[in-house]
Amino acid sequence: MPSEGLNGEVFYPSSEVIEYANIKNWDELNKRASEDYLGFWESMAGELDWFKKWDKVLDDSNKPFYKWYTGGKCNISYNCLDRHVKTFRRNKLALIWEGEKGEFKSMSYYALHRETCKFANILRSMGVKKGDRVTIYMGRIPEIVMAMLACARIGAVHSVVYGGFSVEALHERIEDSQSKVLIVADGAYQRGKIVPLKEIADEALQRAGGIEHVLVVKRTGQEVNMEEGRDMWYHELLKLPIAKGDGFIEETDAEDPLFLLYTSGTTGKPKAIMHTHGGYMVGTYTTLKYVFDIHEEDRFWCAADPGWITGHSYIVYGPLLNGATSFMYEGAPTHPYPNRWWQMIENYGINIFYTAPTAIRGLMRFGDAWVKRHDLSSLRLLGSVGEPINPEAWKWYHKTVGNEKCPIMDTWWQTETGMFMITPMPCVPLKPGSGTKPFPGIEMDIYNEDGKPVKDDEEGFMVIKTPWPSMMRTIYNDPDRYVQQYWSKFPGVYLTGDSARRDKDGYYWVIGRVDDVIKVSGYRLGTAEIESALVSHASVAEAAAIGLPHDVKGNAIHTYVILKSGVNKSEELKEALRQHVGHEVGPIAKPEQIEFVDSLPKTRSGKIMRRVLRAKALGQDPGNLSTLED
Ligand code: WT7
Repeated sequence: MPSEGLNGEVFYPSSEVIEYANIKNWDELNKRASEDYLGFWESMAGELDWFKKWDKVLDDSNKPFYKWYTGGKCNISYNCLDRHVKTFRRNKLALIWEGEKGEFKSMSYYALHRETCKFANILRSMGVKKGDRVTIYMGRIPEIVMAMLACARIGAVHSVVYGGFSVEALHERIEDSQSKVLIVADGAYQRGKIVPLKEIADEALQRAGGIEHVLVVKRTGQEVNMEEGRDMWYHELLKLPIAKGDGFIEETDAEDPLFLLYTSGTTGKPKAIMHTHGGYMVGTYTTLKYVFDIHEEDRFWCAADPGWITGHSYIVYGPLLNGATSFMYEGAPTHPYPNRWWQMIENYGINIFYTAPTAIRGLMRFGDAWVKRHDLSSLRLLGSVGEPINPEAWKWYHKTVGNEKCPIMDTWWQTETGMFMITPMPCVPLKPGSGTKPFPGIEMDIYNEDGKPVKDDEEGFMVIKTPWPSMMRTIYNDPDRYVQQYWSKFPGVYLTGDSARRDKDGYYWVIGRVDDVIKVSGYRLGTAEIESALVSHASVAEAAAIGLPHDVKGNAIHTYVILKSGVNKSEELKEALRQHVGHEVGPIAKPEQIEFVDSLPKTRSGKIMRRVLRAKALGQDPGNLSTLED
């Protein structure tokens, strides 16, 4: 796919763009950060507020369990809110929000601070203390931002579960995190319909123990079941004296956990990626500031969901740490018409817009006229994340949306990295389909199977060689798996799970996952989750899931199912299985295609050989079959 760029097409930023940018000379910054990356990360940390300064920038005495800013005390919520409330930013908009039905809300830093403090007081009154886990399951409404910041404020560890996930996905995450409190909305608006979040949560709670209190935020207003003694309405508690009071803040250690975020891995259940207050704060602050070139007057829109790392880092924490104005929209991009996003860019004067290739491809299909109806001249920068962007979509985005004047920041990163790792800055020449080079101070490489760097333009395993502040600290409850999965294939370096090439200019071209992770519309799903959802259906004996290329989604899920003996194959059953996966994991996991088969290709040890299924579906050579059982 990215070969077009490799043929030498380069887009240079205009002199206006460079003139205005925070960083005008990438090489200079890169040189400084590469020569002394600890010094660089130390100076960036110095731009934020600390209750107590760190003793050491990096403690690598127990690799790969790196620690950053040890001995330091800081609170990310303090840096997002209190720090600004003391300055002129008190009256600046922190958050602008539009609901799917067209409602509008904006909150100054003062207001967001005030409401977050109330939220924190309510949580404290429920007995939530430092270190306790709190699961958050909501749509894109302002309360999700307050809930996250409120947890951080009191040192509680949030675990946000994407509102598009369903019963089993939520159940697993509540149980694994041992959350005491669940914060849930009654429902969420999506494409004009209501997703019954509270109802889904009730079903998940029947499967999971441990939750003592459920705090329910009213959004959609439909009738919901409220369990006496367990469930409480947020808006009712807000009226009580317990919500008032001081702006209590926990003086957390730099290395205290800030959140868990579950993500799909190679095998088994999703794993809880753990991030901490100090390093994550410095990493997200720095990358947003330099890559999206935050200026005081900017309105920044990251069109992701707070339930994914993109939303954590660049709707909530990064923008607020920078004292920027963050815009959030509740609903679907095409509701009620495919111009919804463009209309909001015009309405709110968005300057920086960040989305995923799948959304760009989806909107591109509706044609230029929907975009051209709107004045998008406020835009200065565009961004892309989640999967490789094909040059065709890149060019459309650049020309039709950006009017050829907005550089596109194609940012490669992961839940695990917490922040952008391969990314341009506005002053960097771009090649469509490449995220350009690693962020200053980050050393990466591409290895062959033997752990040796490959030559230019050769494909291999992409690795990260230097630690960085916002790196994951561990997999919660499973440190062995952290070591095994990320640090074992090539000892001493971090394995990304992606394959990539690097061209003669040092530009990286990410190809895709080399493990059993499927990127569907930029969402990360594990084959194991889809398979176990299928197998949990009474008719299914065995199942295999693979990803196959799809024009809009990037990849689509294809599944192969062995039915239990005596079960009849039918189209109705296929549809029932699709619905079942949607109910258990979430609509995003519904298979594109289900094929009933009598056997699956397996190794002698019983592992499904997905590459054989993939090769067969694509009409390609399945390669070495010597380990195939049958
Ligand atoms: C995987 C991580 C971190 C934001 C959202 C995804 C793929 C991410 C790019 C990009 C090519 C990309 C990789 C990566 N990916 N950004 N700009 N170009 N591929 O986070 O869900 O943890 O997924 O997304 O395969 O490993 P995530």
